Amino acid sequence: MTSLVVRRLLIDLETPFARHWNGGDAFRSAYFNALSMSFPVGEQFFIDSVRNGIKLLPEEQRTPFEEQVQGFVGQEATHRRIHSLFNAQLDKQGYVNSWEPRILRRVERLKAVRDARHAVAITAATEHFTAILAQHMLAHPQAVEGAEPRLQALWMWHASEESEHRSVAFDVYRALGGSEQWRRRWMRVVSFHFTTDVLRQTARNLWRDGELFRWRTWRSAASFFFGEHGVVRHTFKPWRAYFKADFHPSQQDATLAERWLQVNDTAYAVVRANP
Ligand SMILES: [Fe+2]
Ligand SMILES: [Fe+2]
Repeated sequence: MTSLVVRRLLIDLETPFARHWNGGDAFRSAYFNALSMSFPVGEQFFIDSVRNGIKLLPEEQRTPFEEQVQGFVGQEATHRRIHSLFNAQLDKQGYVNSWEPRILRRVERLKAVRDARHAVAITAATEHFTAILAQHMLAHPQAVEGAEPRLQALWMWHASEESEHRSVAFDVYRALGGSEQWRRRWMRVVSFHFTTDVLRQTARNLWRDGELFRWRTWRSAASFFFGEHGVVRHTFKPWRAYFKADFHPSQQDATLAERWLQVNDTAYAVVRANP
């Protein structure tokens, strides 16, 4: 197992950004804003799930995971911090985050489930979901075309690290002996919630902007999801791969993420290097 580097992104998020920061495109701005709104609580859930998960492993099995999990926790914690700053700007712009309370309610309900492996399975499924979206974005940077460089860096850095740590939760789930049936079942649930939640929050953001019922908004959405470089066209196959018995997240190519992190090494400071 290779260790994960923890990086602090050197960007200023105190300076406000435009409402349609993503290339002046209302839909793309609203969609990425929606994603960001889910991160602080979502990523806290991933951190807690994986940390609780490895505690269930016997001592000798736990040691090789500790290093990986520390890197994973460090990366997700920095993502949470940066996206909280980003979301504070969205608050000031008057957007209302209704996705976050839904996640918090689900996390609360899950506390009644005794088997901690369910939370790890949910994390593994969501991590695959985010890793394929990240890979899509790295391969099709048009998604943040025309955005300010600091905001492009934010999304590319996050995408690269999601790709980099894509196997951690999955490996913990496997080490815990989690069932294949539940692994797949949680992917179906996560996919449904993630898709409906991101669309609801995007629509809400667009409504707040008075852009929901504009032709240009729907045209941008159609191209973003179903166009030549569209998300649906490019992520369906890697999404479906999760249901195969021999699936492992490392089967997904991560060279674009590695390259972004190499080429943009002045965009961040290393907080925790490879030991
Ligand atoms: Fe993250
Ligand atoms: Fe992640």
